[in-house]
Amino acid sequence: MIDSESNDTVDYGRLVWSDDLVLGVNSIDEQHREWIALVQAFESAVTEGRPAEEMRSTLAAAVAYTESHFADEQQVMEEAGYPFLDDHIGQHQLAWDRVHAFASGEGAGELAEEEMRRSLAEFLPQWLMLHINTADRQFARWLKGTMAPGTAHGIAPGTAHGGPTGPDGRVFGDIPV
Ligand SMILES: [Fe+2]
Repeated sequence: MIDSESNDTVDYGRLVWSDDLVLGVNSIDEQHREWIALVQAFESAVTEGRPAEEMRSTLAAAVAYTESHFADEQQVMEEAGYPFLDDHIGQHQLAWDRVHAFASGEGAGELAEEEMRRSLAEFLPQWLMLHINTADRQFARWLKGTMAPGTAHGIAPGTAHGGPTGPDGRVFGDIPV
C-alpha cells in the first residue's frame, strides 16, 4: 500500500507518472505527463534493446519535447513574475547541456552512440523525476501562494499544496532549486 503523504512515494529510480507528481498547474502538469511518456518510450527502447532506428527516433522526440517544454515552462514562470526564474533556467540549462554533451557523441561511431543512449536513458528519467518534484513543485507552491483565491487560472484547487513535501514546500532542502 502506498502512503500518499510520505516522501517516499516518488521513486526516482523508476520513471512513471503518478499523482504524486501533480503540481496543480494544469498546463505544466499536462506537459509533464506527455514529457514522461516520451522519455519512457526512449528509455524502454534502450533497455529492451529495440532497433537502433527506434532508439534514435524516440530519443529525438524526447529531446525535442524537452526543449519545447523548458521554453513553455519558463514562459509561464516569467509571465507569473517568478522571482527564482534565473535559478530555474540555470537548472534547465544544466540538464540541456548534459543532453547535448551526450548527443554530440553521435557520429563518433556505433559504440559511442550506444554509450550515449545508455547514459541518457539513465540520466534523463532520474533528472526529470527529481526536477519535477523539487524545482517545479517549488514554483507551483510559490504561484499558489501569490495568487488571491479564485484568480489562479489553470491551477487546480487544493493541489499545489499537496504532494510529498515538507512545510517549506521543499522535498530536499539541501538541493538547490
Ligand atoms: Fe522545470
